[in-house]
Amino acid sequence: MYRTRGAIALALMVSGADALLRFSCSQLVVERLDPLVNPGAAPSPHLHQIVGGNAFNISMDPKTPPPSLATCTTCTFADDFSNYWTAVLYFKARNGSYHRVAQKPNVGFEQATGGMTIYYTPYIGSTKSSVTAFQPGFRMLIGQQGGRTLEEAQKYRQLTYTCLKDPMTRTGETKDMPTQPCPAGIMANVRFPTCWDGKNLDSPDHTSHIAYPSSGTFESNGPCPSTHPVKIPQLFYEVIWDTTPFNDKSLWPEETGQQPFVWSQGDSTGYGSHGDYVFGWKDNALQKAMDTNCNINCPQLKSQSIAVGNKCVKQTQVKETIDGWVDHLPGAEHMERKK
Ligand SMILES: *[C@@H]1O[C@H](CO)[C@@H](O)[C@H](O)[C@H]1NC(C)=O
Ligand SMILES: *[C@@H]1O[C@H](CO)[C@@H](O)[C@H](O)[C@H]1NC(C)=O
Repeated sequence: MYRTRGAIALALMVSGADALLRFSCSQLVVERLDPLVNPGAAPSPHLHQIVGGNAFNISMDPKTPPPSLATCTTCTFADDFSNYWTAVLYFKARNGSYHRVAQKPNVGFEQATGGMTIYYTPYIGSTKSSVTAFQPGFRMLIGQQGGRTLEEAQKYRQLTYTCLKDPMTRTGETKDMPTQPCPAGIMANVRFPTCWDGKNLDSPDHTSHIAYPSSGTFESNGPCPSTHPVKIPQLFYEVIWDTTPFNDKSLWPEETGQQPFVWSQGDSTGYGSHGDYVFGWKDNALQKAMDTNCNINCPQLKSQSIAVGNKCVKQTQVKETIDGWVDHLPGAEHMERKK
């Protein structure tokens, strides 16, 4: 049901067809900020892990997009100063203490310090189609941090998890958190909708200016609805959580069917997965890459090594303990008493 883009990309590294960008963005900072949902709030309600340009800040004015403020980026495409972020995964021990789960680099990007793998895909398969790249000031969010049921999660058809049997596993995506230990970690897959209303760079809920195809899927080349007629690239995050230090079943909850991982907003179901995006490519670099149908790599774009990207780090602005064993999730006082 969910096409496995990662698997396609890995296959394509060998076969060389199709069009997509696939690149690594190392960790920029992990802290309680959310300039999209909670601009001006330091701290924001829950913890995020953020990659991309170092203009990431407590507030980010759409009138001064990241390329004008950033001096470095953690991404290997050096003209990409966008910010990409998600919640952070924690392990909850039987005694109620929490430990942050580290992120692990993806296949091909082993040198990266955590972070995530980013894809921009103009089309899938052999049916070429053009897309309109995001515009300066564009931002969006997908998912519902408060979602705790399958019904809520179904609104976001492409927020899934892959239980990694090995680093190359790209099948068996689920909407809820894996219920058994995953030998090579848990990959969270965050695919954004691919249709835009063509007018609004943002919307009050940060989602209504974007939409899924009206029939079929992006992967099946389904058409955009009349309300959101402009086809945009598919933005996709792969975030690999190194849950392997916690795979010993004796550490897991005693209740059958329960698993020990919880998102930083207090969600242990997995249905509250969400991803945020602030566009920040320099000039028309992204449009150029989409128009030239670059495949994985893109000689038309300026690149930098993973080692250089690793050096772009940001000091935390919110000072609090997020690592080691902690007795509550950062910001727990704001969280609803949901499971
Ligand atoms: C972040 O915002 C503050 C004001 O809130 C400003 O002083 C600072 O320069 C900004 N940092 C960056 C990297 O834009
Ligand atoms: C809670 O359990 C974890 C994992 O077993 C252990 O490492 C930690 O020290 C314990 N914390 C407390 C406060 O007992």
